[in-house]
Amino acid sequence: MASTVILGMQWGDEGKGKIIDVLAEKADVVVRFQGGNNAGHTVEIGENKFVLHLIPSGILRQDSQCIIGNGVVIDLLGLVNEIEELEARNIKIRDRLQISNRAHLVFKFHKLLDGLKENKLGGKMIGTTLRGIGPAYADKINRVGIRADELKNKARFKEKFKIGLDHYNRIFESNGIELLDLESEWKTVEPAINYIAPLINDTVLSLNKAIANENAVLFEGAQGVWLDVDHGTYPFVTSSNTTIGGVCTGSGVAPKHIDKVIGVVKTYTTRVGSGPFPTELETEEGNSLREAGNEYGATTGRPRRCGWFDAVATNYACMVNGIDSLAFTKLDVLDRMDVIKVCIRYDINGDIVSSVPANIDQFDDIKPIYEDHPGWKCDTSSSRSWNDLPQNAQRYLSRLSELTNVKIDIVSVGPGRKQILFI
Ligand code: GDP
Ligand code: IMO
Ligand code: MG
Repeated sequence: MASTVILGMQWGDEGKGKIIDVLAEKADVVVRFQGGNNAGHTVEIGENKFVLHLIPSGILRQDSQCIIGNGVVIDLLGLVNEIEELEARNIKIRDRLQISNRAHLVFKFHKLLDGLKENKLGGKMIGTTLRGIGPAYADKINRVGIRADELKNKARFKEKFKIGLDHYNRIFESNGIELLDLESEWKTVEPAINYIAPLINDTVLSLNKAIANENAVLFEGAQGVWLDVDHGTYPFVTSSNTTIGGVCTGSGVAPKHIDKVIGVVKTYTTRVGSGPFPTELETEEGNSLREAGNEYGATTGRPRRCGWFDAVATNYACMVNGIDSLAFTKLDVLDRMDVIKVCIRYDINGDIVSSVPANIDQFDDIKPIYEDHPGWKCDTSSSRSWNDLPQNAQRYLSRLSELTNVKIDIVSVGPGRKQILFI
């Protein structure tokens, strides 16, 4: 397997958690490199359903080591909760999870500011997960953030925590929001320090050592290309690089050590939160996709917006990331459809284009040009090989592969571990 990167090719929730879990069977190390607990990665193992937010999905494979890299923003209390919940379900964490000493921390004041900013935007809100992700990354870029390494010296950490809290209190005061009290906040934060500090390490060193020892490493992307702060539908994006460059900056691994990049993509499209979505179906068809695909956010529970597969956006996404192969998910969700549409070009005020505009206002003018595919009208969830798939499903997938210019490696036909076929 060597070093393989798994990235979402749409607006997140493509089924990355499931694909990671399947591939992690043969991985020695699984690494998160960006995002925070805005992510919700679902893994279903028999009757058991797990939703991972900060901890790499590889934690569910007992032989895998897991790393939360320097590019992740870590909600200290969120991480403690996640560890405790997994331990309560008999998942061993202690000797298997390392946290980068260079990762930045997320505190309550970041979450409060996230909410305040969203309220101020009113109808133009981003629809964030309210997990404090934007404010925490802003502090990092402004060079005032607090990194995990600080947790090793409690007194010094408390000084920095106070400076941060005072800064945010000034913002809250001018906005008429109740101020945070240092000592009562400290009471909730302090126990988490003792809990997390032993897991902190120079993960750049341990990761590179693992690579030098020819360990198989999986890099677990969060969100998706169109939520990337540079390449996504800005400003309706998250605050990190969800694309390939984020792997190197967010984990400290050199590009030459990346052997393969797999893009995960749903056989249709979803988005949660605000912002452009050219193939969105605000119709009964969209509702039936949502119900068939159980499209409700794994982190916030919000209903996901649903629409057809967008080959223009996905082709662009694959180009930006140099995708070697695709993992198509949720084929089974289309099992009952009579006709399945695929957007092959955009009509923007009469211009027929096959790339994605940079300017957010131009999205309003996009009219997707569709081609129709006949449905297969039978159950694919027990298919285990390409030849098991109905012909119309094979034709549909082959066409998506042709339009995106990338070969298919994996097709997922259900949420379960075994509901997968390799090509
Ligand atoms: P992630 O954020 O990319 O890991 O994706 P999420 O976990 O947020 O959302 C994907 C959802 O689809 C989860 O509920 C998965 O259990 C489910 N899922 C993944 N693959 C398949 C599939 O092939 N078919 C069906 N029906 N569900 C799937
Ligand atoms: P996974 O890893 C889907 C979306 C939010 C919002 C925007 C910014 O599970 O695929 P943020 O809280 O990051 O500032 O919100 O990004 N978003 C996601 N949508 N899946 C995710 O993660 C997401 N993480 C953030 O809904 O539109
Ligand atoms: Mg998700």
